[in-house]
Amino acid sequence: MDRDQDPELALAAHREQLERSGQAHLLRFWDELDQAERAELLGDLNGCYFPEIMSFFNRAVSAPVPIQQQMDEQMEPVPREVQGSVSRDWERLPEWKAEGLLQISKNKVAVLLLAGGQGTRLGVTYPKGMYNVGLLSRKTLFQIQAERILKLQHLASEQFGHKCTIPWYIMTSSRTMESTKEFFNLNGYFGLQEENVIFFQQGMLPAMTFDGKAILEGKSKISLAPDGNGGLYRALRNQKIVEDVEKRGIGFIHVYCVDNILVKVADPTFIGFCVKQQADCGAKVVEKTNPTEAVGVVCKVNGLYQVVEYSEITLVTAQKRNPDGRLTFNAGNICNHFFTLQFLKNIVKDYEPKLQHHVAWKKIPYVDENGQQIKPDSPNGIKLEKFVFDIFQFSKKFVVFEVLREDEFSPLKNADSQNGKDTPTTARHALMSLHHRWVLNAGGHFVDENGTRIPAIPSLQELADVPIKCEISPVVSYSGEDLDKYVAGREFRPPLIIDENGVQELTANGL
Ligand code: UD1
Repeated sequence: MDRDQDPELALAAHREQLERSGQAHLLRFWDELDQAERAELLGDLNGCYFPEIMSFFNRAVSAPVPIQQQMDEQMEPVPREVQGSVSRDWERLPEWKAEGLLQISKNKVAVLLLAGGQGTRLGVTYPKGMYNVGLLSRKTLFQIQAERILKLQHLASEQFGHKCTIPWYIMTSSRTMESTKEFFNLNGYFGLQEENVIFFQQGMLPAMTFDGKAILEGKSKISLAPDGNGGLYRALRNQKIVEDVEKRGIGFIHVYCVDNILVKVADPTFIGFCVKQQADCGAKVVEKTNPTEAVGVVCKVNGLYQVVEYSEITLVTAQKRNPDGRLTFNAGNICNHFFTLQFLKNIVKDYEPKLQHHVAWKKIPYVDENGQQIKPDSPNGIKLEKFVFDIFQFSKKFVVFEVLREDEFSPLKNADSQNGKDTPTTARHALMSLHHRWVLNAGGHFVDENGTRIPAIPSLQELADVPIKCEISPVVSYSGEDLDKYVAGREFRPPLIIDENGVQELTANGL
């Protein structure tokens, strides 16, 4: 019997390494575990290489904690000359969009979705991309994003007269991989070609006590969590994704997070802007207007570009304002980035190993020496994470592109029962309100149940709070284009759906 089949042989192989790394406590309950539990623990141990984990831990905890005041003094806003903006630079938008579409038509653009998070705040046990936010169509975030890719491929193909493909790389974790793949399979890849949807898996790291002991969540289970969205770069290397990107002839990669219902996947205007600026790295931002909003800010620290996370900035700095009244640090990070392939290659080859993990203090459930399950009331350990934007500092030409929040940013973070911010309701409303505006801009109108036109800007607070129920499938329109033929000069009674079957006015209680 070989080591893979015999738990005792497998155990012996681990024991020595665990002892050397000060982790022998992980085997504390071994003798009382049944066969299935032993297999579970061995599975967790197989994923943990402790000599390396301890070097991450030691580097992260021994790094000098930035003194907040010094950090504040070193922070500078993003200089105007590296910024583009959809509002200030509106005259150049067509040029940038044309460039982006050209690159897409030449099969030079790929998108990469960060979907390895655990959705803890939303409180679901399945991947966030599978969440149905209660749209008229019942579409999930994955489906909306897939259909935006489909439409963009179509728009670029139509304009340039030949077929093109935007490959979609999807980073999952060991917790989300199987369910994500199964969901795509069940849904026929939402119309995309299977070979152009590439799943890969980020790494996991154990939660550690403050003195460097991996935490047992159960007698046979190590408390493991994904290694942060900056785990991307290690995963790109380990799973040879960069090679795949290169083999496909891709030059530019749009990286984004799963939870923004308004995300313009592979946005040609953003891509075109970055390409025209000859940037190797770019970040899309929205103006941060509320000092306490939970978004990181893109800025310079000590002369290097980075994002200072909402958990790292002091209130004094967050509240600083310019003479015009705007926040000084107002480049709100929306986890939406542009990289050239060459930049990613340099990162993966040279810089990733130099990146240090961020330390987050957490309340981590554990089993004590007596096998009792404990849920601590205060932080009892740390999680180690890298962040996707940690590599901005290595960019040779970094740019920032500011877009309008109401058009492009409404993230799904919390459940409806929570504080009311960034919930399924706010995400759904943001999408419907955008689509309502698209219909009005294309010359359509809405009427109430008496046939009276509903004003574009409702005067009653209640109406403003509950947007008109209107949803336009991404396969019909990517960003408001091509709608005249459906809506110009027509009146609609909501709820309204416009999709591949045309215009459908649902009955008022159809929802
Ligand atoms: C993130 C940004 C923050 C920004 C905010 C906007 C980071 C580190 N922070 O914060 O600056 O203002 O979005 O909404 O990017 N993910 C993984 N693997 C992980 C952890 C997360 O793939 O190990 C993915 C998630 O699935 C998600 C994205 O990364 O798609 C962002 O993760 P999340 O934890 O939601 O980040 P925030 O704290 O909201």
